[in-house]
Amino acid sequence: QETPEKYRPQFHFSPKANWMNDPNGMVYHNGTYHLFFQYYPEDKVWGPMHWGHATSKDMLHWKEQPIALYPDSLGYIFSGSAVVDVNNTSGFGKDDKAPLVAIFTHHNPVIEKQKTGLHEYQSIAYSLDDGKSWTKYSGNPVLPNPGITDFRDPKVSWYEPQKKWIMTLAAKDRIAFYSSPDLKKWSKESEFGADAGAHGGVWECPDLLPLTHDGKQVWVLIVNINPGGPNKGSAGQYFLGDFDGKTFTAHSKETKWLDWGADNYAAVTFSNTGNRTLLMGWMSNWQYANQVPTDPWRSANTISRELGLKTVGSELYLTSVPAKELDAIEMEGYTKKNLSVKAPVDLAPKGGNASGLFRLDLKTATADDFELVLSNKAGNELLIGYDKAANQYYIDRSRSGKTDFEKGFGQKHTAPRFSKDSKIALTLVADVASVELFADGGLTVMTDIFFADTPLSGLGIKSAKGIKVEELQYNALKPSIE
Ligand code: FRU
Repeated sequence: QETPEKYRPQFHFSPKANWMNDPNGMVYHNGTYHLFFQYYPEDKVWGPMHWGHATSKDMLHWKEQPIALYPDSLGYIFSGSAVVDVNNTSGFGKDDKAPLVAIFTHHNPVIEKQKTGLHEYQSIAYSLDDGKSWTKYSGNPVLPNPGITDFRDPKVSWYEPQKKWIMTLAAKDRIAFYSSPDLKKWSKESEFGADAGAHGGVWECPDLLPLTHDGKQVWVLIVNINPGGPNKGSAGQYFLGDFDGKTFTAHSKETKWLDWGADNYAAVTFSNTGNRTLLMGWMSNWQYANQVPTDPWRSANTISRELGLKTVGSELYLTSVPAKELDAIEMEGYTKKNLSVKAPVDLAPKGGNASGLFRLDLKTATADDFELVLSNKAGNELLIGYDKAANQYYIDRSRSGKTDFEKGFGQKHTAPRFSKDSKIALTLVADVASVELFADGGLTVMTDIFFADTPLSGLGIKSAKGIKVEELQYNALKPSIE
């Protein structure tokens, strides 16, 4: 099946052509999810950044739209966020129409060459036609550079108790919080993180959001970091704590990881989604993003995930599970109960699943070793399993197809299991070129991309010591791209 687009994801967003990185400005507005993204429309490698644009009703069927923001005299358009300015605090609204306001980093390549380190600052733009056309604010930048080399990726949200906007900004090795009454004037509130968390790389693309747990509000601070991730390169860490409109106070200075796989970076949440908290990331890694063997585009995003909180003993964790919209693209499938597994058991549906697109939910009777094998006739194998001795989940893509475009790509990735449950519950979501593993209700998550020579239509399970699978549900998934 040698089509030019054989690695094209079928229900994950990928641009029709050319380079994409971080999701930007994700916002739900008038019944539509908007995704903007770091985009270079002239080549398949990173270049002068624009904001590409796509829209969707369900975060699965995406329609690519014309480019939303182009570089200008102030610089390239780096990552940022978008809000619906419901109260028209910015004054950009017209005739009762609330403006969509994008808050982004201008990265100035001319100043960058002068090596003053002052080349990143924050700017805004607004749209009165649902994100179709944007006007950049004449007073840009709204937040000049204070002398910090990496000063970018503003994530803005409304803080209702004090009726002000909060900007969460990556400032090299820490997070800086700013506030504003109108999205135009910003004052610094505080900093977090110089002495907390992982510092194997620069801090980028943060997010600050409240979740409710046991009737109490807990604030989540997401901080993406590159490099320095748990399985090399880029990854997302998070802190849980309190936020009082000024300062974020973490319960612990230790890092927890949002996703232990190699391919979920710059993940942040959608704005304006009511009581749902929906996260989406860039499904790649700076280690090899510019080299992956796709053509004529590079990169896709993860599926949308709903965030929650869960305690294990006295420890609180962020959980992510597939957003429920995924259910709607489920096709025919089957259920199995009380399946004894030792030697490989074939789990592929009768007649096979040529596309390789599926969702598998299973629950084991005990927390013992098992391994799922996704395979094809070309001899490619992707291994996903649980190793009891190490108490780790893993994804091994070393023999998953094309891996030679970067020396670190073809490796096995591991993630700790946090759950103390005697049973393992997991959900696996497979597309043409990615697998997303949600274990123990989303306590451990792993996202990995791969490039199989043909779709991984085969699926089996085995267990060296033997294991009982109490319940298993398999469903093929429907492609959602045109
Ligand atoms: C993260 C990042 C951001 C920056 C953007 C540039 O992947 O480096 O910090 O704004 O990409 O494209």
